[in-house]
Amino acid sequence: MGKIIVGSVSDIPSGKMIKVTADSREILVANVNGNYFACDDTCTHAGASLSEGNLEGEIVTCGWHGAKFNCKSGQLEKFPAKIKELKAYKTIIESGNIFVEF
Ligand code: FES
Repeated sequence: MGKIIVGSVSDIPSGKMIKVTADSREILVANVNGNYFACDDTCTHAGASLSEGNLEGEIVTCGWHGAKFNCKSGQLEKFPAKIKELKAYKTIIESGNIFVEF
């Protein structure tokens, strides 16, 4: 298991999320009231980039068909069909940098 730098805390204001590529994976990194969470960026429904959707608290809403995921746990919160949860990753903050642990 290793950790990869995905940016600086100043890259993501509170209430915002970005997409980064790390370890050949597309990862969403969100700032929820100063806490940084990371999960897969690709919606498990039809492949939208979740970071292009909406963030409210810990809940990311997919911009294509509205699936709601918790960006802290990766858990599916709301969608009419059964779709997979997202993989969530541990984040570590060191010297103002955000690392994701794989
Ligand atoms: S692609 Fe995300 S809800 Fe359909």
